[in-house]
Amino acid sequence: MEKMMIKGSRLTRLQRGFTSLPIDLPGTQFNRAIRGSRQLREEIKNIVTQRRIHLSTRKVDEDVDGLDILSSLIMDTSSDGQGLSDSEIASKLYGVIVSGYDTFSSTLAAIVMCLAELPHVYDAVLKEQRQIAESKAAGELLNWADIQKMKYSWSVACEVMRLLPPNSGTFREATSDFVYEGYLIPKGMKLKWSVHSTHKNPEHFPDPEKFDPSRFDGQGPPPYSFVPFGGGPRMCPGKEYSRLKMLVFMHNVVTRYRWEKVFPDEKFVWNPALVSTKGLPIRVFPHNKSQSN
Ligand code: HEM
Repeated sequence: MEKMMIKGSRLTRLQRGFTSLPIDLPGTQFNRAIRGSRQLREEIKNIVTQRRIHLSTRKVDEDVDGLDILSSLIMDTSSDGQGLSDSEIASKLYGVIVSGYDTFSSTLAAIVMCLAELPHVYDAVLKEQRQIAESKAAGELLNWADIQKMKYSWSVACEVMRLLPPNSGTFREATSDFVYEGYLIPKGMKLKWSVHSTHKNPEHFPDPEKFDPSRFDGQGPPPYSFVPFGGGPRMCPGKEYSRLKMLVFMHNVVTRYRWEKVFPDEKFVWNPALVSTKGLPIRVFPHNKSQSN
C-alpha cells in the first residue's frame, strides 16, 4: 500500500459527495465525487495490475512483499476457485481507503486538540505512557502487552470520539417490518443512523458536554450507547487497527512533546466529515530531558 499516494483533498471531495444532493450535473459536488471516484478506482486498478504481474513473475522462494492486503486479495481464490478480478479488488481497496482516511486522521487531530486544551488529561496520559516507556530497554519497540496497559489513554481517545465522532452516521435499510416506539417501520424503508443520537444522552452520559475519560472505567457505558465505530454486522472492520494506531501515536507524541494551539478558540465542525475550522496549527515544545515534564 506504500505506493498508493492518494491526496487527502481528493478523498475529502469523495466524502462530500456521499452527503451531497444526488444530482449528477457538471459543477455539483455529487458530479465531482463521481469523477473523483472513477479516477481513483482507475489508479488503484493500475496498481493492482502491476502487483499481479510482479507476483506472477516472482521467483518461487521470493518473499511476497510481506503478503499485504493487496497481495492477499490477488492470491485469494477462496470464493469459487477463480479469484477476484482487478476491478473487484480495486473496488474493495477503494472502500477501505475512503472509509479509513478522514475518519482516522480527523480523530488523531481531535485527540491533539483535546490534549492541548486539557493539561490535566495530558499529564495523566503522559504519566501512563512514561511508565510504559521506562519499562522498555533502549531502542525496544512497543509490543501488544504495552498496548493493553494503555487503559487511560484509550479512555481519553474514546471520550474524544464520544464528543467528536468523525463519522456522523450512515443509512440503513429495514430488512423486515418492525414496530419501533409505536411506529411501523416497513421492510425496505431507508433509515438514517447517527452516533449523535446516543453520545450525548444524559441518561447514559451524565453531564454529557464534560470531557470525562472515567466514563469508560470498568464496564464503561451500556452496550450500543457509545458507537463511534457503528455496531452489528456492518461495524467498522478498522476498529482494532485504529485503536492500535491511535495508542502508538499517542505514546510517541506525548513522550516527546507538549504542544499548544495557535488559535485557542479553534473548534471542530462536521462539514460533513469532522474538520478543524483553521487547520489546527500548533506550537510544539520538545520535553527537556533533564526535567521531569
Ligand atoms: C477513528 C477511526 C475510525 C472510525 C471512527 C470509523 C468509523 C466507522 C463507522 C461509524 C462505520 C459505519 C459502521 C456501521 O454502519 O455500523 C465504518 C465503516 C467502515 N470502516 Fe471505519 N472507522 C475508522 C477507521 C477505519 C479504518 C482505519 C479503516 C480501514 C483501514 C476503516 C474501514 C471501514 C470500512 C471498510 C467500513 C465499511 C464496513 C461495511 O460497510 O461493512 N475504518 N467506520
